[in-house]
Amino acid sequence: MNQAPAAAKDAHADAAVETVARQVLGNCPHHLFQWPPLANGEQWTSLDRQQAIHTNILKWATDYHVLPNTKYLSTFLRRYVRMIEEAGEELDEDLLTFHCDLMGQGAADTGDLPHDFTLKTYFLDSRVSDNYVTTMESANTISGGTTGLKTWPASLSMAEYLLTHPDLIRGKTVVELGSGVGVLGLVCARLSAARVALTDVNASVLSVLEKNVDRFRQRTTLPAAPIEIHSLDWFSVEDHEADAHLGDVLLCADTVYDPDLLPGLAHCLHTFLRAAARRNRPLAVYMATAIRRESTFHDLNDRLRKVGFAYRIILDDCPPMRFYPDEAVTQIAVLEIVPVSDGTGVGGE
Ligand SMILES: C[S@@+](CC[C@H](N)C(=O)[O-])C[C@H]1O[C@@H](n2cnc3c(N)ncnc32)[C@H](O)[C@@H]1O
Repeated sequence: MNQAPAAAKDAHADAAVETVARQVLGNCPHHLFQWPPLANGEQWTSLDRQQAIHTNILKWATDYHVLPNTKYLSTFLRRYVRMIEEAGEELDEDLLTFHCDLMGQGAADTGDLPHDFTLKTYFLDSRVSDNYVTTMESANTISGGTTGLKTWPASLSMAEYLLTHPDLIRGKTVVELGSGVGVLGLVCARLSAARVALTDVNASVLSVLEKNVDRFRQRTTLPAAPIEIHSLDWFSVEDHEADAHLGDVLLCADTVYDPDLLPGLAHCLHTFLRAAARRNRPLAVYMATAIRRESTFHDLNDRLRKVGFAYRIILDDCPPMRFYPDEAVTQIAVLEIVPVSDGTGVGGE
């Protein structure tokens, strides 16, 4: 956090508060929430810890306009207050006031969030610091008939992979397909990409993406790459669009979820790879995906092979570890799309 935690007694207590901050501000689902152990037998219900949670998480998030929505926060606080009461501890006055204000929609500032939307904050360093990305997202899985209004776990796994391999992005022009609300792209902007182009097809997704990018531009205090947003449909993308948007790195996360979309995605990847080949320009293509059905994977491989490419698994079974996905994640893989061994890699469709 920006200021030294007022009530924290030592580094261990600081780190524990940060773990709670990361969960609360990342909207970690309540059933997956974990209170980290404290040193010297101290409890999270003590007045000292209550003050730390109020000052370093709730007040900090209010001041920085990154509070999750009222529904998420009031459930968190209800559970916390119950814990305090069950331990027979006194309730901290500031915490109580915050809770009452929230219930009455008083001073707690949750901004102008549309119904069922929340703010999620992803801290990019191992410690909580100014290096974070906040996005407005739907609190529901499918909202307005699209899956694109929330961040999917594969995006978070890919973001974590890139955070540990920043050279893949530093100084590169990055294009993302099916960006959704934009977390991955914003992480790339923070990783010193030369330029980031975020694309999607859905009008409501593009509108939320625009808001998230605006917010990022206005509020970030750290250097970040220029970000563009474009409407791009995998099925109808043409050579001139691929030429116009072509970068050094093409990313897609959780775009292999519907077998009906695979032909479009394969066409789009092929169009970009062909554009790169025409210009004799290397294009690294990374894809992160939840492995929901093996058959969809085989289908992806078949479609890629038809156009001269295959996927290579870079990381298998890599659920997000730093960020908090909104579901208990099963299997996620990060793939690289590479030319098949005959080296042509740019076959016809
Ligand atoms: C499951 S969401 C993933 C969003 C984001 N990449 C993430 O992982 O959080 C799939 C995204 O692909 C987009 N999409 C679906 N069909 C598309 C198409 N034909 N062209 C471009 N984008 C498409 C959706 O609008 C949605 O944003």
